[in-house]
Amino acid sequence: MTFHINPLHASFAGEVIGINLSRDCGSEILGYLREALDTYAVLVFRGQLLSDDQQLLFAQQLDGALHTKTGVAALGPNRFGNEAITDVSNIGDNGAILKSSDRRSQYALANRLWHTDASFESPRGKYSLLSARIVPEQGGSTEYADMRSAYDELDLDTKAIISELKAHHSIAYSRERLGFEFKANEREILYGTAYPIADLNQRTGRTALYLAAHASHVVDWPIPDGRLLIQDLIEHAVDRKFVYTHQWKAHDLVIWDNLTTMHRGRPYACYTDKREMRRVTTLDC
Ligand SMILES: [Fe+2]
Repeated sequence: MTFHINPLHASFAGEVIGINLSRDCGSEILGYLREALDTYAVLVFRGQLLSDDQQLLFAQQLDGALHTKTGVAALGPNRFGNEAITDVSNIGDNGAILKSSDRRSQYALANRLWHTDASFESPRGKYSLLSARIVPEQGGSTEYADMRSAYDELDLDTKAIISELKAHHSIAYSRERLGFEFKANEREILYGTAYPIADLNQRTGRTALYLAAHASHVVDWPIPDGRLLIQDLIEHAVDRKFVYTHQWKAHDLVIWDNLTTMHRGRPYACYTDKREMRRVTTLDC
């Protein structure tokens, strides 16, 4: 069997050719993909007909422990009966498209803000594996930002300022920015945690900006100062030269490293067109 990667962007993201994830997951392939994730940060696979169980198994084989304490779980159990599968769809328990008045629908809109998955957890999210089952005819792409190149291109003064700083991440913060309201017990569950803004990966020796819409403040800084710094850094990181846009086709699987990228979903007709996506995220532990 031969396989290779076609680059999709000047600094990151590649399409993997020649691997069928439902059957080719031996140690050679898994090692190849882990190294490729260190290099490319975003890997695209086309034509992967995966069941939920196959997606879960592959994620575990690739990286071990799975994230199950998803933010949306605070609103109640998902329709799969397994919280390791995050429902990135606009479909309710009865198979119908969620209405705009549905809390889950409103909650999901914050996925259109630049973020990293599970940055508000300890341990945090590492790789996300998103499988497209049904895609809308128009819109609904996902954009990825290369946070290592964004860090590399910061000026030296900014690198010095952020070198020791941590940002606090809470998924409640990103939802409340859009006006979503939590009950007191939900907010308590979603309090969050803090991580360094300039995040050195010991394995690769590269530093990435670690930011997200979940980043509510800089630890030990006045809240307005910290929010302005976070805002400036995110603006820098999403310059178009750092961004790859993935146009989904049914049965695409995209894997990305949340520690070296940010991402956001783009709009589509979410109250009339079905979009069925399943995400599994591994833990950084
Ligand atoms: Fe996400």
